[in-house]
Amino acid sequence: MHSDYVHIFDTTLRDGEQSPGASMTTPEKLRVARALARLGVDVIEAGFPAASPDDKNAVSEVARTVSDESGDGEPPVIAGLARATRGDIDACAEALEPATRPRIHVFIATSPIHREHKLRLSREDVLARAREAVAYARERADDVEFSPEDAGRTEPEFLYEVIEAAIEAGAGVINIPDTVGYTLPDEFGGIIANIRKEVSGADQSIISVHCHDDLGLAVANTLAGIRAGARQAEVTINGIGERAGNASLEEVVMALRARNDQFHLATGIETTELVPTSRLVSQVTGMSVQPNKAIVGRNAFAHEAGIHQDGILKHQETYEIISPDSVGAGSSKLVLGKHSGRHALRSRLTQLGHELDGEELDRAFARFKDLADRAKAVTDRDLLALIDTEIYEPEGPFTLDNLHIVSSTSSPPTATVTMTGPDGKRRVEAAVGSGPLEAAFRAIEAAVGHRCEVTRFQLEAVTEGRDALGEASVRVRDGRDSEAALPRDFHGHSADPDVLVASARAYVAAINRMLQSAPEGDIPVSMETAS
Ligand code: KIV
Ligand code: ZN
Repeated sequence: MHSDYVHIFDTTLRDGEQSPGASMTTPEKLRVARALARLGVDVIEAGFPAASPDDKNAVSEVARTVSDESGDGEPPVIAGLARATRGDIDACAEALEPATRPRIHVFIATSPIHREHKLRLSREDVLARAREAVAYARERADDVEFSPEDAGRTEPEFLYEVIEAAIEAGAGVINIPDTVGYTLPDEFGGIIANIRKEVSGADQSIISVHCHDDLGLAVANTLAGIRAGARQAEVTINGIGERAGNASLEEVVMALRARNDQFHLATGIETTELVPTSRLVSQVTGMSVQPNKAIVGRNAFAHEAGIHQDGILKHQETYEIISPDSVGAGSSKLVLGKHSGRHALRSRLTQLGHELDGEELDRAFARFKDLADRAKAVTDRDLLALIDTEIYEPEGPFTLDNLHIVSSTSSPPTATVTMTGPDGKRRVEAAVGSGPLEAAFRAIEAAVGHRCEVTRFQLEAVTEGRDALGEASVRVRDGRDSEAALPRDFHGHSADPDVLVASARAYVAAINRMLQSAPEGDIPVSMETAS
């Protein structure tokens, strides 16, 4: 099948979630899935249902939410990943039951290194398993995709044989993964061209590409595959994914669009949603976007050199091949001020893709008023930062009621915090540190009564200017020296014109996330009650 439309298959919620430290809760996955639907992706790979009951439930919830909310429009296909076993395929089919357009994505490794060392299976066994698994998946769903894992390092003749068997067994989409990011663009393009030439039935299937970025070539390889006839690209927002990540959705889509003179191909992506979606994924996963990242990085449209600035002012296209507005990175508008009411806030948030009502809207309005009262011009970017941190961060078990910091050039800084715990009681703790931030973090730890290790801390200005909001992101790990210590990192965010307040709130949010995910009664919250 060779058309002028490239299907965008987003795997942020599956391969993207495999990035170290990027795990998402089900509500977070739902927010990302809604954003992907707004972005216009054709397929959302929602997870790997056989991996855990949580994964399975998340896939079902994504399928239900996206299908229910699509209104009259056609919802995206929801895909679930399955190894080539009946158990995995059954788990996938069950998880996808609420989907209007379900797809089972079956994979098995085909390269010699994977066959010999990982699967310990002969070529014949792999071939038979691929055929049987696809046939079984077709009993459970009409739409089946097949991936020969590590295709990039598979003997070409064997690769053709497996793909042919999968097509005969009923796979409508054949995905070619460069699982370890090993191939070079002309080589990968050649693999796709040869599959189209050598495999009977390939012309009736959609050929898909799935490239990893171990050599920094994922996007180049994806584009080479598309040039060679692939019509589905498997990509992630911000390029997150296993190890060095996957091909980035925004880069692939904008390359196709900016160089349409070369590709003559369309996608269904609403490109103005690229920056908001990137921002959401970064916030939800705690993985920040490098400032110079193409398309969505903070500096992607910043012109520093005088000659460049002069050129841009005279004619935008002197130094810009795509306009910031076209990817949703347009200049931040002044939208609301301190006289704006709840209604104005609600309607602006709706335009920005956040439907808030009731208690959520109350909380957002209180934070907005607080910011506007501090004589701050509230821009869209400020609003989004407030919403991300106020509405979507965990609400307890601890709240930071007050933070008081004393800092001077002559004595160590001191922080005093007042916090309310899960028992409703307030506790006051003070601590010193080598800097005010350390003092604040220590005081919070004392109030919470739990040892934490800060594994990452980042502070950024949301907009330009001296009165810009500071957005803090903190990643923590359970600091207990015992087997009960939770094995992964937890992140928290906050935004405030006072960067110390933003940092302290972000730290509390990260701790709350950690405490919420601990088995009940596992984390002893022992502390002194101060009042
Ligand atoms: O990289 C890979 O090979 C994969 C497959 C499961 C498609 O993610
Ligand atoms: Zn992958």
